[in-house]
Amino acid sequence: MSNQDNDTIIELKAVSKRYGFGDAESYALRNFDLKVKRGEFIMIMGPSGCGKTTLLNIIGLLDKASSGEYILAGKDVSRVSSSKKARFRAKEIGFIFQNFNLVPTLPIIENVSLPLIYAGYGKTRRLRMADNILEHFHLREREYYMPYQLSGGQQQRVAIARSLISNPSIILADEPTGNLDSRNSHIIMEELRDIHSMGNTIIMVTHNPALTTYATRVINMLDGEIDTDIKTVDDRDLPKGGKGEKVSVKVLPSRDPIKMEIQSESDVVVSGDNVTTEDADVLVMPEEQPKAPAKKTTKKTTKKKTTKKKGAKK
Ligand SMILES: Nc1ncnc2c1ncn2[C@@H]1O[C@H](COP(=O)(O)OP(=O)(O)OP(=O)(O)O)[C@@H](O)[C@H]1O
Ligand SMILES: [Mg+2]
Repeated sequence: MSNQDNDTIIELKAVSKRYGFGDAESYALRNFDLKVKRGEFIMIMGPSGCGKTTLLNIIGLLDKASSGEYILAGKDVSRVSSSKKARFRAKEIGFIFQNFNLVPTLPIIENVSLPLIYAGYGKTRRLRMADNILEHFHLREREYYMPYQLSGGQQQRVAIARSLISNPSIILADEPTGNLDSRNSHIIMEELRDIHSMGNTIIMVTHNPALTTYATRVINMLDGEIDTDIKTVDDRDLPKGGKGEKVSVKVLPSRDPIKMEIQSESDVVVSGDNVTTEDADVLVMPEEQPKAPAKKTTKKTTKKKTTKKKGAKK
């Protein structure tokens, strides 16, 4: 157990991820320290290969650090069993991936309901809950479509619905707009903004600097370390909410139905071959309404670490 304050939901202490041995040894993360407060919306940026996905996978308990300590919601999860990790993940964390990761052989409604299997709901209840959340996303009329019948933007909205259905408190998004055109990227970012304004913690990887306007904190990584860490919103002004009673999706502001277009072939590519039900872990929505929208400040907490600059890998 840690002595972290109540507002801290994630704490990494000297976390390293090493691959290979001897001459082939390399570090995807190197002595990484990070404290995340509830209600932060963090964007992680940095050159390809600098360790962004590795970081997200470790935070999301999909991957294990080689060394260091990880405290999640007050619990030291560095050394817990993988079954406990899976349970923790299902309860606390929702994932959104660049390639949507919908199961290609299941209709939309079943994709969205997958995470509820962990919560022990019967099939009828699962489908009813999925139906409700799809209504919010204006995708109800397509709930028996297969993933390939939806545009990229629609598939990502389905993936967001799936990430929300079991009410997690942390959302991890790895380049969620990477396969979308700018219009659909904007729609997805607006959804994430709504989710954040209700007090959820979001950590998102992006290569697009324009999206950092949505963030309350921007971390630039280089060679497995933090290069810069800038807060644009004071901790006191972060939206409140987080864990507690569950909030019905009905409190999400309703959005006009939007027709999404497929911009390119890549928009409809589904990487579902290696998808398991574990990939469908979801997110817990906050119980409370936000008290006030986060107020932008100009306060900066820039942390510059000295790093051996090796440059981008790709
Ligand atoms: N399974 C693995 N085995 C060996 N090395 C790995 C493995 N997974 C990742 N790496 C290495 O770890 C480093 C960080 O990879 P990671 O995927 O986290 O980068 P990233 O910042 O997400 O890059 P991108 O922007 O391209 O997605 C890279 O050098 C990568 O080659
Ligand atoms: Mg990556």
